[in-house]
Amino acid sequence: MLEAESQWPGVPWWRRAAVYQIYPRSFRDGNGDGKGDLRGVIQGLDYLHELGVDAIWLSPFYPSPLRDSGYDVSDPRAVDPMYGNIDDFKELIAQAHSRSIRVIVDVVPNHVSDQHRWFQEALVSAPGSVERNRFHFRDGRDGGQSPPNNWASLFGGSAWTRITEPDGRPGQWYLHLFDSSQPDLNWSNPQVRADALETLRYWLDLGVDGFRIDVALGLAKDMTYPDVDDPVGITEALRFDLDDGSVESQQRRAKVPNSAFFDRDELRDIYREWRAVLDSYPGDRMTVAEAWLPPHRISNYVAPDGLHQVFGFDFLVAPWDADRMRATIQAAIAAVTAVGATPTWALSNHDSPRVVSRLGGGDVGRARARALAMLVQALPGSVYIYQGEELGLADVDLPDAAREDPVFIRTKGEQKGRDACRVPLPWSGGAPPYGFTESTTPLWLPQPEDWVEVTIAAEEADPESSLHLFRRALQLRHHIPNMNVEFIDHGTGILAFRRGDFHCLMNTSDAAIALPEGEIVLRSQPAHESVLAPNTTVWMRAPKK
Ligand code: NOJ
Repeated sequence: MLEAESQWPGVPWWRRAAVYQIYPRSFRDGNGDGKGDLRGVIQGLDYLHELGVDAIWLSPFYPSPLRDSGYDVSDPRAVDPMYGNIDDFKELIAQAHSRSIRVIVDVVPNHVSDQHRWFQEALVSAPGSVERNRFHFRDGRDGGQSPPNNWASLFGGSAWTRITEPDGRPGQWYLHLFDSSQPDLNWSNPQVRADALETLRYWLDLGVDGFRIDVALGLAKDMTYPDVDDPVGITEALRFDLDDGSVESQQRRAKVPNSAFFDRDELRDIYREWRAVLDSYPGDRMTVAEAWLPPHRISNYVAPDGLHQVFGFDFLVAPWDADRMRATIQAAIAAVTAVGATPTWALSNHDSPRVVSRLGGGDVGRARARALAMLVQALPGSVYIYQGEELGLADVDLPDAAREDPVFIRTKGEQKGRDACRVPLPWSGGAPPYGFTESTTPLWLPQPEDWVEVTIAAEEADPESSLHLFRRALQLRHHIPNMNVEFIDHGTGILAFRRGDFHCLMNTSDAAIALPEGEIVLRSQPAHESVLAPNTTVWMRAPKK
């Protein structure tokens, strides 16, 4: 385990870390077969070290039929051969730690792949059997032919699929809040709970520093399986593409916690068990929950004997508006402070549009993405950076034939899904595959022709690039005083705050403003010395009084 950082003695690393999310399928190919893998991650560690991140979070690399890009896990305690083997993983941990980079891995406790041994056993076992009781198998309504209730899959359609019994007759239904290839586990079953603890121990023994918990709000279900009001509304609330930060979107979001299958009180107990396991290991091991929650429900997860963090997702949808962002920041800080935690800030991830595209695309989108990165990096807490965000990549306009996301498939193309932000990273060179691989095998998602200027090599060569900005910001971030955020009024459209003598100003208006007095520490765009142009952020140090 790594030593605690000396700068802020006693502050656990994850409370102020910059965490880089690696989507292993698309990060880098290390063995020349055209697909991203763990050796590719190892090869990329120097790049990440120079970028200045404190930790990496690896999206799933476990054996999986890849129906949901690895969030359909068939064995949670192994490495998919496509990504390498367990020795590669051990080397990855050692190599990351030798560069003072912590490693967080994903756990997917809500569901498994239908190829998981347990589900295969359940399919050939009788209704009511021990094997079926690890999942949610129910008889259908209307003589068996209709789903047991009206719950909807978050990926579209019903959350129930009917199986064929071993004797060939149509039989019971099983629950899947996501794709039909992702049966939900029954968390009221002690075997399920024990197995998850074994998974945690397995990775902790190998030296991981933390876990990102997939669908952390979904494990517990109402075992009476009642119909819910507006099941489609609940799933729509989770659709990033429908969220524009408006009041209506927020109201949709507020429906997410739903006592039948989301955010139930029983979760508290589950995570208490998890925390006891983490605390039995040396070093600062941590957890971060993937959960959209209203502020008053965070305490169901984050607690001294519960989870450490919950993702702050508000900036995935926040409109380009100083007042709205200020309110977002205030609410987020207040909510986590109330439970003794620190905030987390995420601008994008593998489920959401890339920042550049969400904020208008083109030069404007790029400028805003740079400005916003500096804004969140100036705040207290930790930042999660999705691979490619540091390059200012935009979503890729993919042909429908290339799309793999079950969201696209289950909604029959009505929703395009999340592939646009998952295209393999451009490392170098003037054409696809941009150094991602040495192979000529087509990539799982095609890269565009216009990435020549946003490869890592091209941005390294350009001192004004987004990559250089991220490097400088991540380095300077460690020197920002560890003090509370105090907002300052600089007029309409300006989001400004100070932490001690450190000031951060972001301009969301259409007009440039004069900068206050002080020393410029960093700016998101080269510009005239004395003004803050629209769509830019500046870090300053106040003049000594
Ligand atoms: C959230 C993950 O981030 C997403 O990619 C996945 O599809 C769902 N959970 C289901 O595991």
